[in-house]
Amino acid sequence: MEIGIDKIGFYTPEFFIDMEKLAEVRGVEPAKYTIGIGQEKMAVAPLSQDAVTMAANAALEVLNEEDREAIDFVLLGTESGVDHSKSGAVWVHRLTGIQKYARSVELKQACYSATAAITMAMGHISLHPERKVLVLGTDIAKYGLNTGGEPTQGAGAVAMVLSANPRILALDTDSVSMSEDISDFWRPLHSDYAIVDGKFSNQAYLNFLTDVWGEYKERNNRDLSDFEALCFHVPYTKMGKKALKALTEHASEEDATRLMGYYEPSISYNKAVGNIYTGSLYLSLLSLLEQGPELPENARIGLFSYGSGGVGEFFSGKVKSGYKEHMLKDEHEALLNKRRELSIEEYENILQQALPKDATDIELDVLETTSGTVVLKGVQANIRHYGKN
Ligand code: HMG
Repeated sequence: MEIGIDKIGFYTPEFFIDMEKLAEVRGVEPAKYTIGIGQEKMAVAPLSQDAVTMAANAALEVLNEEDREAIDFVLLGTESGVDHSKSGAVWVHRLTGIQKYARSVELKQACYSATAAITMAMGHISLHPERKVLVLGTDIAKYGLNTGGEPTQGAGAVAMVLSANPRILALDTDSVSMSEDISDFWRPLHSDYAIVDGKFSNQAYLNFLTDVWGEYKERNNRDLSDFEALCFHVPYTKMGKKALKALTEHASEEDATRLMGYYEPSISYNKAVGNIYTGSLYLSLLSLLEQGPELPENARIGLFSYGSGGVGEFFSGKVKSGYKEHMLKDEHEALLNKRRELSIEEYENILQQALPKDATDIELDVLETTSGTVVLKGVQANIRHYGKN
C-alpha cells in the first residue's frame, strides 16, 4: 500500500518587506541579502498571526468534508508554540472543523518536527488505511532587529493531508535520521528571539546532510542517479544551494546538471517568504511541484530535513501521475502577489510587538484584510481567542 502526501496547503501572512530596502537601512550591500543570502522578500507576521492561526489557514485551504471525517490525528510541528501545556493542534482541530474523535498533538525539534510528524502519520495510516492525518509545519522565524540572523527571518505554515493512495507524493520507507546534541541554534524559554551561532549552524547543517546521505546511500543502495530532484530544508535559499553543491560535488555531469536544474523552481516560494522553520522543506517541495516542470510519473525526489540542536533526516518520495492537477499553484501565486509591502519602519514596529507577558487582557488590532482568515483576536483571562476575520 502506498502512503504519502495527498494534499498540500500553504499560508503566509499578508505583509512582507523588500530585502534590498532592509539592506539599505542596515548599511549593507543589497547583493549580500539578495545573492549572498539569496532572499528577495521576507514575510512579516502581525501579532494577530501566530503558529496556530497560520497552521489553521494553511489547512483550511485544502480540507474538504471527506477529509474532516477521515482525519483522526492532527500533528502540529512548531518551535513557535503559544502555550507550555496546551498543544496548538487542539486549536487547529477546532478551527478547521475536524471530527471530534481525533488525537491532536504538538511536536518540537527546531525545524525538524514536521518530518517526525510525517513518520508518525505513515505508521498510523499503515495500521488504519482508511484514516487520514493532518500534518502541519508552522513557525515565525525571529532573530531580532540588527542581528546577523535578521535577513533570514520569515513566517508561514504548510499543511499536508497524509493518506493511503496519495495523489501527490508516495513516500518511501527508506529514511535515515540522526541526532546529535549540539548548540548551533536554540531559543531559551525566557526569549522571544532565537540565539544562533550562524557559521557553526551552516557547518552543522552540512555535516548532518553529508552524514545522513552517506548512511542513506549505503543502507538503500542508492545514488544520485536514482533521484530526479532534491529538496532541502531552506533557512535561506543560498543554504539550499550550498546543500546541493555539497551532494553533487563528485557527481557525474549528467546528475549534477539534472539536479541543479530543479534548484530555481524549488526555492521560488522560499525566496519570497524567508525561513518558516518546520515548514521550510515542505515549502521548497511545494515550490518545486508547482513552479517546476511536470515530473515524470514515479520520479523520485530526495528530501533533507534539518532541525538545529540537532536532528537530520534524508528520505524520499515518488511523484504520482497527474499530481499537477492537485496543486494550488494559482492560489499560492495570488497569496504571495496580493501581500502588502511594509516600510522598514512599519516592520520594525511590528517585530517588536509582543503579547503582554503578565495576565493582562488584550484585544488585538486585526490588520488582515482577507475575510475568512483565522486570526488571534485577543487574550482574556489568559485564554487565547481565535476566530475568523
Ligand atoms: P553573515 O555573517 O551576516 O553573512 O551571516 P556572511 O558574511 O557569512 O555572508 C553571507 C554570504 O553572503 C556569504 O556567502 C558572503 O560571501 C556573501 P557564502 O560564503 O556563504 O557563500 N556576500 C555577498 N554576496 C554578494 N554580494 C555581496 C556580498 N557580501 C557578502 N556584496 C548567516 C549569514 C546565514 C550565518 C546569518 O544570517 C545567520 O546566522 N542566520 C541564521 C542561521 C541560519 O539560518 N543557519 C542556517 C543553517 S541552520 C538551520 O538551517 C536551522 C534553522 O532553520 C533553525 C531551526 O532548525 O529551527 C536556522
